[in-house]
Amino acid sequence: MEKMLVKGGIQLNGEVHASGAKNSALPLLFSTLLAPGKHVFKNVPHLMDIQSTMVLLKHLGCEISWEGSTVQVDVPELKSFEAPYDLVRKMRASILCLGPLMARYGQAKVSLPGGCAIGTRPIDLHLEGLKEMGAQIDVDSGYVFGKVDKLKGAKLIFESPTVTGTENLMMAACLADGVTLIENAAKEPEIWDLAEYLNKMGAKISGHGSSIIRIEGVDRLTPAEHVVIPDRIEAGTLLLAGAITGGEVTVSSCRPDDLDALISKMKESGFKLSIDESSITVHKNTGYTGVDVTTAPHPAFPTDLQAQFMALMTQADGTSVITETIFENRFMHVQELVRLNADITPKTRVAIVRGAPGSLKAAPVMATDLRASACLILAGLAAQGETEVNRIYHLDRGYEKMEEKLSKLGAQICRKN
Ligand code: UD1
Repeated sequence: MEKMLVKGGIQLNGEVHASGAKNSALPLLFSTLLAPGKHVFKNVPHLMDIQSTMVLLKHLGCEISWEGSTVQVDVPELKSFEAPYDLVRKMRASILCLGPLMARYGQAKVSLPGGCAIGTRPIDLHLEGLKEMGAQIDVDSGYVFGKVDKLKGAKLIFESPTVTGTENLMMAACLADGVTLIENAAKEPEIWDLAEYLNKMGAKISGHGSSIIRIEGVDRLTPAEHVVIPDRIEAGTLLLAGAITGGEVTVSSCRPDDLDALISKMKESGFKLSIDESSITVHKNTGYTGVDVTTAPHPAFPTDLQAQFMALMTQADGTSVITETIFENRFMHVQELVRLNADITPKTRVAIVRGAPGSLKAAPVMATDLRASACLILAGLAAQGETEVNRIYHLDRGYEKMEEKLSKLGAQICRKN
């Protein structure tokens, strides 16, 4: 199993670009199921999760070509409507085929994604929404079975905002009869990006990016071209890599507005940042203070940056209280940070980080999920000695060329079998 070796104590400096957003590219690829013909996406990152999506789309009958960062998906009349367990278990976002299959074919058999390291991750809101739209939904033997003559527009009110739930139902509603309103919808930029593409295909969506999305069903959609937005989580991670090493790093090709919550917490902590339309620079620092962070749906602080920010806080002057409100088990990195000599007390959904600059010491650690792996690499960059991050395959699910990008900034980081 591959591991990453990270030499600590080297200041990172220079410019690095953000890749296309994984969490945008995934729903965009699934949205192709809504319209036969050739769809073209640019700025698609090379990631395991994207490959897993392509395997599933091919299983459903699509033809796919991938050159550089451009992906073309040719969607025929499908012959299969099944997303089997072996494909779905590799990537939870596979549930995003459910909405499009139900909308276009009125039938789907999709494996339940199951839980994962960070929590139980139910899909009840996706299923309730489809039922409200007139579908018959049965869950049996680990599969969701969906059937409907034609979906009907409905008023859907989420108990709490769900990102992939909003995406699934927004896609389903595009081909439904009548108007669908999604209230308390998630507002993440990736939802906005998906809606923009659906509208290019002929959908009638408004309000995306706000908590009420209105979708007027249309008879058919036609394929189009689209450029995937930059990955705000990758951009944030790279910025934090510069910050934790005290260096000056510019992350280009990103959308600073999507990172407002991170930027404001970094400023509160004492970092100097320069921001223009598509880049953010963190300037050199000789110290920063602990700040409290609470994760919450966009535009608040993203849960997907919580672990990386915690790594930063271990090197702050003073205490930071980090509260995780989205996932019930997203502190798996805490014990690994403690192995690196961090002083953290985890409680239910709250971690108290007693920052101490220069306190991290290299040790073998294990990545437990995608963002935890990024957190441990950041901690390794600041630790004395060479940190060995095991189970690095998690990183490849969501970070394109991470070690190449960090090396470009001066890091000494390499993979080993
Ligand atoms: C998406 C992101 C993931 C991010 C997360 C939260 C993708 C592919 N993944 O995941 O990187 O960490 O948003 O920003 O975009 N919930 C329910 N019932 C449901 C659905 C969700 O109770 O039917 C709960 C979840 O348990 C969780 C919360 O809602 O507590 C938010 O989850 P959700 O927004 O659905 O996360 P994902 O879409 O799976």
